[in-house]
Amino acid sequence: MKHTKVKDLLNSTTTLQEVNAKGWVRTFRNNQFIALNDGSTINNIQCVVDFENTPEETLKRITTGAAVSVIGTLVESKGAGQKYEIQVNKLEILGDSDAEKFPMQPKKHSLEFLRENAHLRVRTNAFGAIMRVRSVLSFAVHKYFQEKGFVYVNTPIITGADAEGAGEMFQVTSLPLDNLPKTEEGEIDFKKDFFGKHTNLTVSGQLEGETFAMALGQIYTFGPTFRAENSNTSRHLAEFWMIEPEVAFNDLDDNMDLAEDFIQYVIKYALDNCKDDLAFLEGRLLEEEKSKPQADRSEMALLEKLNFVLENNFKRVSYTEAIDILRDSTPNKKKKFSYLINEWGADLQSEHERYLVEKHFKCPVILYDYPANIKAFYMRLNDNTEPGKETVRAMDILFPGIGEIVGGSEREERYDVLIEKMKALEIDEEELSWYLDTRRFGSATHAGFGLGFERLVLFVTGMTNIRDVIPFPRTPGSAEF
Ligand code: 4AD
Ligand code: MG
Repeated sequence: MKHTKVKDLLNSTTTLQEVNAKGWVRTFRNNQFIALNDGSTINNIQCVVDFENTPEETLKRITTGAAVSVIGTLVESKGAGQKYEIQVNKLEILGDSDAEKFPMQPKKHSLEFLRENAHLRVRTNAFGAIMRVRSVLSFAVHKYFQEKGFVYVNTPIITGADAEGAGEMFQVTSLPLDNLPKTEEGEIDFKKDFFGKHTNLTVSGQLEGETFAMALGQIYTFGPTFRAENSNTSRHLAEFWMIEPEVAFNDLDDNMDLAEDFIQYVIKYALDNCKDDLAFLEGRLLEEEKSKPQADRSEMALLEKLNFVLENNFKRVSYTEAIDILRDSTPNKKKKFSYLINEWGADLQSEHERYLVEKHFKCPVILYDYPANIKAFYMRLNDNTEPGKETVRAMDILFPGIGEIVGGSEREERYDVLIEKMKALEIDEEELSWYLDTRRFGSATHAGFGLGFERLVLFVTGMTNIRDVIPFPRTPGSAEF
């Protein structure tokens, strides 16, 4: 007999003579009521066991975590909270779960404990919900771009380029680390390495993406990226997923419009398609926040916050305006910021970004036109900027509770200006010769951005630590599983 998903059974429009459900026992009460979950929904189906006619031996094996198959009748439930339940006629234990040893007991576990058990935490309500929402959001990403005619590009994961010029790369080699071949100058001889050159894991697919945008018009990437930055924060991962659209003939304003529309679309898609999971996560957040002082609690509940982002335009503010606001802000005057903002040109830290979003504007903010020297080499230099105060057509989108969720720019399409910039930053022209071809042959205005997928999932699920929205997090000092 074919089994039916719990979600479909719960959504049934009629009672049914004979159904089969398979799943894992969440709880077993009064020797009679199994709460069964199969991952298809946050909701369990109640299975009522005829304990008088079930051997004691079998009843003992219905423990939290055990895999079971039940065959029975789908009947209207007398209990509160569910429309249907299964009156069990036949129960089979598929896989035992030692109640003494199974770590996911039906009680509240700390998030730290759950992280150590990332292979089992997905069996809890919260992580089941988070991972389903994550899946729906990634589908929404593809749906959005595909419906708009973007081409999905798989950019390489192993590359010789440092796209961001930040040098935060994991190196890839097959050389024996205990016996490295050396050149006559005594340096490591990467000619003898697997690729015959020095390579690393990609920090961004942008540069390769740009070459495709200059042929296919509108493209996006969605893949893993790697950063060896030693930022042990609740917003950074060493391995994270990034979505990078790139569009020929788009300028910075078009880029902002695209980013805003895209983010609103995927959030709306999650709101429409993850109702039960988001309702659960909203409750979880309210519960968690009860233990915090009033001042640290969010002003809005999760669904209200998500709807707020849909209903309000993102505030577009230039870097220069933002610096003025920050310089005159109370935390700056009272020296509450760890990094005080004294002058134009300062790089913004997450404390500043969060002040702008959470305290000053109280809505998502797009900051644009940053000082050239705090941004990547490929960003387009603004015309008519004062010497010493050059700005680039960069944009960062800042979200409440998250800080930077998107980084992007209009690209420097002028060959001469780009080359000059690369020289100044000592970026290897030889290594990026293929990239420069986009500017040599048929160059045109184009723009794109990168959205950190986990930061989006953080926002939508109301979680606060990025380690809790990716199945198996990689962070400094930790690569379990
Ligand atoms: O601002 P970033 O570094 O921009 C780029 O990589 C560009 N090449 C994007 C482009 O224009 N195509 O990174 C983009 C986004 C950030 O805004 C952030 O959301 C996320 O990627 N991000 C991280 N997410 C998790 N862990 C990290 N260590 C991250 N670093 C960046
Ligand atoms: Mg950035």
